[in-house]
Amino acid sequence: MPDDKLLLVTGGAGFIGSNFVHWVKKHRPDWRLINLDLLTYAGNLENLEGIEEDHEYRFVKGDIRDGELVSKLLAEGVTGIINFAAETHVDRSIDSPSAFLETNILGTQTLLDAARDSKVERFLQVSTDEVYGSLGPTGAFLETTPLAPNSPYSASKASADMLARAYFKTYGLPLLVSRCSNNYGPFQFPEKMVPLMITNAMEEKSLPVYGDGQQVRDWLHVQDHCSALAAILEKGTPGEVYNIGGGQELPNLQMVERILEITGRPASLITHVKDRPGHDRRYAIDNGKISHELGWAPSVPFDKGIRETVDWYRENRPWWDRIKSGAYRDYYDKMYGSRSP
Ligand code: NAD
Ligand code: DAU
Repeated sequence: MPDDKLLLVTGGAGFIGSNFVHWVKKHRPDWRLINLDLLTYAGNLENLEGIEEDHEYRFVKGDIRDGELVSKLLAEGVTGIINFAAETHVDRSIDSPSAFLETNILGTQTLLDAARDSKVERFLQVSTDEVYGSLGPTGAFLETTPLAPNSPYSASKASADMLARAYFKTYGLPLLVSRCSNNYGPFQFPEKMVPLMITNAMEEKSLPVYGDGQQVRDWLHVQDHCSALAAILEKGTPGEVYNIGGGQELPNLQMVERILEITGRPASLITHVKDRPGHDRRYAIDNGKISHELGWAPSVPFDKGIRETVDWYRENRPWWDRIKSGAYRDYYDKMYGSRSP
């Protein structure tokens, strides 16, 4: 990243994007940020409370598919782009793939095209470990593992990931790609497994485990994802892909049992439901490249991270109550209904 950093953060009102904005404000206070987010159902400005007053931060409600808007923002002297904006929930992609192809593929292409005509010196495409597909009982994903996505979501992310590669090779755009494992932490939308199970446990509702619950995910605290992304932006080599993972593999059923233990709710709340079609059986990340080349390692021990996460949802019940009831949407309509970018 150049010295005078003006970073365009897309999707910065979502789970990881908003955590990244908070992380930057705390750890890289000299970086200036423009947050471009469409505020879909998954974007929540309440995640960014307190940041709005910061003079070096600006929120723009808008679509990454809007090339004119993106070019206008880049012309303000943007030196780096980090693209979080996406449709992200696998189950929704199975139900209705179109929005995933439009935002995740065409939206990324729009950003890439706009970046070609700009002074951007770093473009980090936030991809996912799901592009690799599913692992057997042993081994871990390397950056060289062939891509084999199994859901419309992961196929759309794999397409964007490959577009980033193509724009580096063809146009020499300074693209970097990260492929991270499952995140957990504050501000995660309660349709995803961890916050869904925590909030359902708190409400004493049943906890819907897909199939036998023996699918394995590699969990990483969102703060560690943010520090890894900053390391890639600062020290990564354009054209390279970096895996990011927590080294904390856990079958879903064990994760759910851990959540019940921390929340003090009974195992009888667990309900096995029909499995997700095409459900990936196991993910695991080999962190070797990012740790050797960029000196990054996860710092939040899983036991501490998951306890603090449960505490956060306990202490921020109004935040998820408003989401679960749908009331948080009224806030956007009030704040942004009549505001243009
Ligand atoms: P999220 O669903 O919580 O947030 C996505 C954000 O993007 C929302 O704020 C939404 O309003 C915004 N958005 C959607 N469409 C947009 C558009 N067309 N224009 C502008 N903004 C738009 O997602 P998340 O879990 O924070 O994931 C962020 C990124 O990280 C995604 O690209 C995802 O693929 C990737 N990722 C997520 C995980 C994970 O565990 N959550 C792991 C690895 C990679
Ligand atoms: O690996 C990174 C990916 O992690 C990201 O790219 C995705 O955006 C993010 O959503 C996440 O995908 P998963 O499908 O792994 O996450 P999800 O929280 O939906 O599910 C985690 C596991 O829990 C998965 O095996 C499915 C299971 N599950 C999920 C839900 C919502 C259940 O058993 N019950 C549920 O109700």
